[in-house]
Order: sequence, then C-alpha cells, then structure tokens
Amino acid sequence: MSALTQTLEAESAASGKNHKHLAQWVQEVAQMCKPDRVHWCDGSPEEYQAMLRLMILGGVAIPLAAEKRPNSVLVRSSPGDVARVEDRTFICSRSKDDAGPTNNWEDPAKMRDKLRGLFAGCMAGRTMYVIPYSMGPIGSPIARIGVEISDSPYVVANMHMMARVGSHVLDVLGESGEFVRGLHSVGAPLGPNQQDSAWPNNPEHKYICHFPETREIWSFGSGYGGNALLGKKCHALRIASVQARDEGWMAEHMLILKLISPSGQVKYITGAFPSACGKTNLAMLIPTVPGWKVETIGDDIAWMKFGPDGRLYAINPECGFFGVAPGTSMTSNANAMLTVNRNSIFTNCAMTLEGDVWWEGMTAEKPAELMDWLRRPWSPASGRKAAHPNARFTAPAKQCPSIAPEWEDPKGVPIDAILFGGRRAGVVPLVTESLNWQHGTFLGATASSETTAAITGKVGQLRRDPMAMLPFCGYHMGDYFAHWLKIGAQSEPSKLPRIYYVNWFRQDESGKMVWPGYGENSRVLKWVFERCEGKAHAVETPIGRLPAPSDLDVRGLNIPAADLSKLLSVDVDGWLAEIPLIRDHFAKFGNRLPNGLNREVDELERRLKAAK
Ligand code: GTP
Ligand code: SPV
Ligand code: MN
Repeated sequence: MSALTQTLEAESAASGKNHKHLAQWVQEVAQMCKPDRVHWCDGSPEEYQAMLRLMILGGVAIPLAAEKRPNSVLVRSSPGDVARVEDRTFICSRSKDDAGPTNNWEDPAKMRDKLRGLFAGCMAGRTMYVIPYSMGPIGSPIARIGVEISDSPYVVANMHMMARVGSHVLDVLGESGEFVRGLHSVGAPLGPNQQDSAWPNNPEHKYICHFPETREIWSFGSGYGGNALLGKKCHALRIASVQARDEGWMAEHMLILKLISPSGQVKYITGAFPSACGKTNLAMLIPTVPGWKVETIGDDIAWMKFGPDGRLYAINPECGFFGVAPGTSMTSNANAMLTVNRNSIFTNCAMTLEGDVWWEGMTAEKPAELMDWLRRPWSPASGRKAAHPNARFTAPAKQCPSIAPEWEDPKGVPIDAILFGGRRAGVVPLVTESLNWQHGTFLGATASSETTAAITGKVGQLRRDPMAMLPFCGYHMGDYFAHWLKIGAQSEPSKLPRIYYVNWFRQDESGKMVWPGYGENSRVLKWVFERCEGKAHAVETPIGRLPAPSDLDVRGLNIPAADLSKLLSVDVDGWLAEIPLIRDHFAKFGNRLPNGLNREVDELERRLKAAK
C-alpha cells in the first residue's frame, strides 16, 4: 500500500467517512492527481484561518489592516484568470442535441479521456482538499449535497463562505446519500523544490466540463470564481437545472428579496438579470420611497419548488456573496459595504497605503496613491482602472445588515413576482407586466443584454440571454423553455408568481442613464407589489402592461417628465424591428421550441401592427 493510500485511509477512518462511493471516488482521484496530501475539510474556523495563512505565506493573499477590515485578505489573480470562461465551458451530455445550440458540447467519453490526461499528476506538490458542502440549509427538502475536490486553498476558503461546508454534511450524506461530484484543479503541478507562483493556474488549458447524466463536474486550469467554486454556477445552476427538469422544480440565476410595505405586508420577489446587471444591488436595496423596506434572501441563485399549497417556494442555495466590487459604495449599496467590512476575501481590488482595499466608485474622491490589482503603483493620473472591472468580494450572507430573519428557512419563501431584466440602452421600457405565465416566459426567453466584464470577451455586445441563463443552463434551451411552460401548467394562475420585465439601464442619445437606478428602483418594486395586490393601475400596450407615468410613485424624485415618459412608453417601430431578431433567436431551437412561444411572437407582431 502506498504512503498516500495509507494517509487517505487513516484520514477517512478518523473522520468517519462511511460513504463507500465517496471514499472510493476520493481514492481514485488521489491516484490520478497524485497530490502530496489529502485533507478532508471539516468546515471549522480553524481550517478557514489555516487556508488564509497558507495563502498569505504563499504570497497569494495579503492581510488587510486589522483596524480597517478585520480578518480580511486581498488576493490578486493572474491577469489571464479573471472571469468565467464561457468558451471553455462544456456540457458533455451523451447526445449533442441535449446540450442544445447555446452550449459547447463534447462527447463525454472523449472529454473524459482528454481530462484524465490533463488531471494525471496535476496535483503533485499540492494538498488535495475534499470539501463536502450543502447547497441550501442543511435538512431543507430543497437543499442538495455536493463534494468538491480541489487543490486550491483559495477555493476552500471561498467555499467555506459560499456554501455550508463540513463534517455535518457527511452526516446527512450517511452511507449512501446522493451527491454531485466536483473535481477541480488549478492545473499547475509542482516539481520537487519548485517555487509556487502567486496565482497558480494553467494558461494553456482551461476546461469547465459538466456531465449532466452522471451529475459530475470536472474543472481544470482556472482558480477564479464560477470556474473554480463549483458549488455555485457549475452545481447550483448547470447540474441543478438538469435535476430540476427531471424532478419538476426550478434552478435559476435569480436574486431573492423580501419587500415590506409601510403597513407591514410582505411580498417575495425574485429577479433574473445576467452577470453584473444588478442582482446583488437589487437584493440589498434601500428604498427611497418612505416607509418601504427591502430585506435580502439571496443575491445570485434561487431554487424553487412547489409547496403543498401550490405556490412556488424559493431558497437561496448559497450562504455567502461573491459580489462585483466596482461600483459598490455607501451611496449605491450600503448593505454590501457593511457586509464586507470584516471577515471578507477581496479578489483583484486595488490596495491603499493604509492597507485597505479600494475600487472604482467606492469613494467620491479617488485616493492619491494606490497599488493597483496588478501590483503596480497607481495614481488618478495613471489613466487606467485600479481594480479589475470583475474584481469581487466574498463575504458571509449572515453579515448583511439587510438579511431577512427567514433567509435560511428550510421550506423557502413563497414567491409573488419574478423579474427578468438586462442592460438595454434602447427600446426596452423601465417595467412591463406580462399578460400571463406563458407571455412572461416569452419575456424571459427573449431577454437580451449587453455583455459585461463578468465573462472573458468583449464588453457591451448585445446578446439574447434567456432568463439570464444563457451560460448556465445545463441542457437544451428549447427544453428549458418547455420546462418553464410546464411549471406554469402545474398550478392555478392565481397561485403562480406574476412575471415582469425591467430595464434599469435605458440611455439617452448622449449615452447618459435615463433612470437613476439603485434605491430608486424601489419605485418600480412598489408598483409591482401593488399590482400583485390588485391595487395599482396599468396601461394595456402591445408588449404588455405598463404603468402610466402617474401610476409610478415618483414623489421626491427629480426626473424630467420627458425622461419618465420615454422610460414608460412603447417604441412601436423599435419593437417591430425586434420581431425578426426574436424569430432568428427562436429558430436556433428548432423543433424543441415550444409552440406556445412561437404563438407569442405572432401575437406580439399582430398587436404591434394594430397599434401603428
Ligand atoms: P453577478 O454577481 O455577476 O451575477 O452580478 P449582479 O447581477 O449581482 O450585479 P451587481 O448587483 O453586482 O451589479 C453589477 C454592476 O451594475 C455594478 O457595477 C453596479 O454598480 C451596477 N448596477 C447595479 N444596479 C444598478 C442600477 O440600478 N442602475 C445602474 N445604472 N447600475 C447598476
Ligand atoms: C456571474 O458571473 O454571474 C457571477 C460570478 O455570479 S461567478 O461566480 O464567477 O460566476
Ligand atoms: Mn451571477
């Protein structure tokens, strides 16, 4: 028996891993990846501190000044590993057709061969961490278990915050419980006595692969965010969307918020906006409308299941935030700023001379001197950004001042409304109410947005991003639309959430935002709330129901009447020009596009033509 297997068996026995398939898998992976050590994560604070120390000693992390941000570190990645890599992300279903036209596909056997080659010996010189985690409150009927194997202390530390990690998860798993297998390596084996780099990764080979039929994830070569923290996008969206389809629930790229009216009435609202399009901000919003309050349940992912009463209940499968740093300030998102004032990990932010972090938009005035995210001296005269546009913070959700008391309720919260949205400089109004569930599904299926820095590639390009799931749906998008329609047919219309399409990003001819956004979005939330109550007024238009300018509470908001009417009017010619684009978009899904959605385009065109 090799020394490695001995350690493995000793550790496995010591920590009581009685799950035969898990133990076997860990052993197989260790034999393939050849790490120096295997460590089963217990999720303890001591373990978290040990990960921080490892990163600090290895030069990956710098501790921030304790009087500024206690127990927090700054991490700088390498410039080639700063965001999700969609072109390196694969859905390896048995049939290519099941991955659909929006995913990269590779034959599972071929991909496995390729990956085995890459993973062979890839953890040499490193520790292999076994991270058992629960997505969702442990014991929730909606929660699911996964195990991530990774050779990155950064991943372990982040997973500690983002998911519920530790031995108690193994207790729930028992001897034969089901779990999603996630294997991750930075893909940078170390030779004997070889000095590690500050951000180990593999510049040549990056693969983020999903095997939906066997509920497996293999991620190679990147240490960043959604590429590496496998509980998040890989498990909770790509794999979970397949499980949700098979089992009749929903796994969505959505924030969850609780909206409280001045009289104490509560509505729960989810929102699907693409990456870096405002989910975290909306989830933590501080309303500018007097008397209204928002509390946070989740900022990125929602898992929804029907309750016995026929309503959809949502949980936040995560327990931390991995949020966009740039643009976050005490003015734009005070709750996020207060969440990250301690016990946080910052990635690719700039550093101040006082040992704190900084990013664009954090303060009205820029610091005179900084160390930028590439460790270069920086001043406002440098003419470049000090933080990477996709710089992020990781922080525990429980530190958020606006977190709702019921955010970990195992049964979830009943959803009253679903918002779809994206960045659209033109055409799309501030808010549109769908006519019914099928029309709402159509609004989601045709949602489009300008791309952001959250993914590698060009920023600002308009693309269709159905339900904000384009990069996250683990199967054929046409089937995904059909699944939405099926969900809608499973309950009475009055019990289903109402569906809205919002756009905070409308611009005028000079490129200036017409809508102030952030806390002012509460004016739209209030209208949505009152529509759900059957109270607020709306105007029927060809694209759906819109508030008239007088229906929106704009007291105290200094917005020119012309801007408001632009935000709330229907540009019939602009929408008619969208029709062929929508048809092209739908044509991609061939015969897997549900007929109901084709009928919605025809109906929309008919209504628009009648309005001319
Ligand atoms: P992911 O974590 O990538 O899924 O992003 P997200 O959807 O949570 O986006 P987030 O709330 O972090 O916002 C991303 C960027 O959009 C930040 O730079 C924000 O400042 C900006 N933003 C958010 N809400 C608004 C808004 O209402 N109006 C405008 N103009 N910008 C906003
Ligand atoms: C997103 O890109 O939607 C994120 C960040 O939430 S990551 O976790 O990197 O996917
Ligand atoms: Mn996201």
